[in-house]
Amino acid sequence: MIAPSKQAFVPFVSVANMMRLVHAIGVEQVMVDLAAEIEADFRRWPLFDKTPRVASHSEIGVIELMPTSDGETYGFKYVNGHPSNMKRGLQTVTAFGLLADVSTGYPLLLSEMTILTALRTAATSAMAAKWLAPKGATTMALIGNGAQAEFQALAFKAVCGISEVRLYDIDAKATRKCAANLAGRGLTVVACATPEEAILGAQIITTVTADKQNATILTDNMVGAGVHINAVGGDCPGKTELHKDILSRAGVFVEYPPQTRVEGEIQQMPEDFPVTELWQVINGQAPGRTDARAITLFDSVGFAIEDFSALRYVHGKLKSLGLCDQLDMIADPDDPRDLFGMLMRAA
Ligand SMILES: NC(=O)c1ccc[n+]([C@@H]2O[C@H](COP(=O)([O-])OP(=O)(O)OC[C@H]3O[C@@H](n4cnc5c(N)ncnc54)[C@H](O)[C@@H]3O)[C@@H](O)[C@H]2O)c1
Repeated sequence: MIAPSKQAFVPFVSVANMMRLVHAIGVEQVMVDLAAEIEADFRRWPLFDKTPRVASHSEIGVIELMPTSDGETYGFKYVNGHPSNMKRGLQTVTAFGLLADVSTGYPLLLSEMTILTALRTAATSAMAAKWLAPKGATTMALIGNGAQAEFQALAFKAVCGISEVRLYDIDAKATRKCAANLAGRGLTVVACATPEEAILGAQIITTVTADKQNATILTDNMVGAGVHINAVGGDCPGKTELHKDILSRAGVFVEYPPQTRVEGEIQQMPEDFPVTELWQVINGQAPGRTDARAITLFDSVGFAIEDFSALRYVHGKLKSLGLCDQLDMIADPDDPRDLFGMLMRAA
């Protein structure tokens, strides 16, 4: 058997190595780093290839591909969303992703992204809140206490200085799990029996529930002046979390409008409903929060550039941390035209 060439090998970050990487750096530091990487890529937003993600819907879920490129590096993520998985003992969201060199098309990295998606989603939410939430916010309501929840809490602590999280889930078991995981991490954690109790005194409300329907996690009367809403769970056609009257009262900030208009909370609104692109706020081209009493809403659906930033961050860390396997993934014969010969010599 002839040994594969050097180019045949692609670094692969397994789930075990992703967990080692996060522990080596520290989970809160990873959130701070990812928020900075994502913000830096939002600053150069116009140069990225952008397309709404390619979604394959079924009765019970969705499987999506999320590609982008900055002209030098290409990336994509495979991700699913199956709210009923949890009842079957499976994750609602799983993912993996790839980076490639645009100049050769050869892959540079293959990585697990189930954990990385939770990290990047939370880092993106916290980065957006840094620009949009009221100054000096200390308390966040966290509605939906599933797989993403602790990541959201810790990102808001590390990036925005949140010191209290108020938890609510329709399933009290999820809230107990979340409170136990957050214990001893420097946050005041309050388990609440109703969503109304959770939002008491909160300047930031995060909704991160999973349900394959137009749910109403927040009604209009629950949202007072000066609040920032971080709506994470409404991310598919027919899957929203907020009553539409909230949208009419809020300044709505989005990632990529052609995708968000189909997948986000604003799918409930007319096609010309005014929204602001977050990258323009960061670049000083559009206003963010205009006054202390304004309601701001980050209508998050998750965009390919955030995954690209996260994969590049992981790729960069491999130089110092190792923490990858080498996959014999690309057939790379010495004579590029002799692919068949390479196959036959392996007999
Ligand atoms: N915007 C993004 O970038 C992004 C990224 C990842 C996940 N998501 C979405 O975030 C959501 C949560 O993902 P997850 O992995 O944590 O899912 P999960 O299934 O692990 O947790 C969801 C939780 O929501 C709770 N819930 C359902 N209905 C509720 C209600 N009416 N009130 C309160 N709680 C309720 C469930 O009991 C469960 O504990 C999903 O909808 C997912 O698609 C969005």
